[in-house]
Amino acid sequence: MRTTVGIIGAGPAGLLLARLLHNAGIDSVVLESRDRAYVERRQRAGILEQGTVDVLREAGAGERMDREGLRHDGIELRFARRRHRVDFPALTGGRSVMVYAQTEVCKDLIALQLKEGGPLLFEAEALAVEGAGTDRPRVRFRHRGTEEVLECDYVVGCDGYWGVARAAVPDGRSFERTYPFGWLGILADVAPSHDELVYARHDRGFALLSMRSPSVSRLYLQVPADTDADGWSDEEIWDELERRFETDDDWSLRRGPITQKSVTPMRSYVHEPMRHGRLFLAGDAAHIVPPTGAKGLNLAVGDVVTLARALAHRAATGSEELLDAYSATCLRRVWQAERFSYDMTTLLHTVPGATPFEDRLQLARLDRITSSRAAETDLAEAYTGFPIG
Ligand code: APR
Ligand code: PHB
Repeated sequence: MRTTVGIIGAGPAGLLLARLLHNAGIDSVVLESRDRAYVERRQRAGILEQGTVDVLREAGAGERMDREGLRHDGIELRFARRRHRVDFPALTGGRSVMVYAQTEVCKDLIALQLKEGGPLLFEAEALAVEGAGTDRPRVRFRHRGTEEVLECDYVVGCDGYWGVARAAVPDGRSFERTYPFGWLGILADVAPSHDELVYARHDRGFALLSMRSPSVSRLYLQVPADTDADGWSDEEIWDELERRFETDDDWSLRRGPITQKSVTPMRSYVHEPMRHGRLFLAGDAAHIVPPTGAKGLNLAVGDVVTLARALAHRAATGSEELLDAYSATCLRRVWQAERFSYDMTTLLHTVPGATPFEDRLQLARLDRITSSRAAETDLAEAYTGFPIG
């Protein structure tokens, strides 16, 4: 097989890149190790920044998002039984976010790719990227039991943290922080108990109320890093969520049947550079953020918008200047998202072994954010999104 751009991975990064390249008249092939059903039901993120919403609309992939997505103009911070709403438009000159799950973004992009785009091969596992430093890179992959080779002009590793592409970037540097806790996440068939997201800091641990639709709730509970989701009964989960969302007013948490339960580990990770010769890394293949800031998918979008723009510039002018700037351009935005995600995570989670002094610092940070427009604006600007490129 031969193509201009070989894309490894059909998550949000790989699928959106294929769409953007298609719209720019550049052919690509997407190799995805899993089957379509797995990719479309894998529960991950749920918040689209304003910039991501704009990109999906411009790419012709925003029609169902505009019909079914939920526009949110704020979030609630909850701590010491207090409730504080962060008003995004008022603090950011009109920006908001969209609640629309990455499973739905992937379904929309897969449908478009299969209808109009280049080859999207499921159950096609990339085994290695070869010749990244030459002008004839290639991807060795296994598809339907046969080993094949995809000859490319460029290869883009959109294969997530556990993919193979990053290993083909020699002499890279990685920066990492792991956390002693994770999130136990549930999907429940019950109307969300609040019309916006609620981020709760409690002495017993962090809790998050999110949603997938007016009738499906998505909630998370901070748990120790090695927690087994099956070790928690539905009733124990609801009881613990109720404790952590406690307030001084009459707010209450509605319960319902839990349809999915899983534990997400917490990690901050960046690999530099995000390029080696004709190989580029995008999305989770290059960086991971703790989900507290809802940045993972939105960072992937910024990477592939920057890369598609650079590849189109190269095709139109022969100039490599934007390709040469790709890694530095993306990393500036990546590190801002890493800083914000780390701040939100350390602001809201109770760290095992934290000293009373550190506990008071957390409450002082929350008090500052909820009483200073400048501090609140920093959170609102970061949450609704950093500019792309
Ligand atoms: N060959 C082919 N495909 C692979 C390989 C491989 N060797 N290894 C991994 N993949 C596939 C995975 O099956 C997955 O579908 O690559 C895809 C990577 O997708 P994501 O992990 O979703 O990463 P990315 O597209 O960068 O998305 C970034 O979006 O999914 C949300 O919040 C999540 O932070 C994440 C963000
Ligand atoms: C989600 O709805 O899955 C979600 C929302 C906000 C976050 C993380 C996850 O910060």
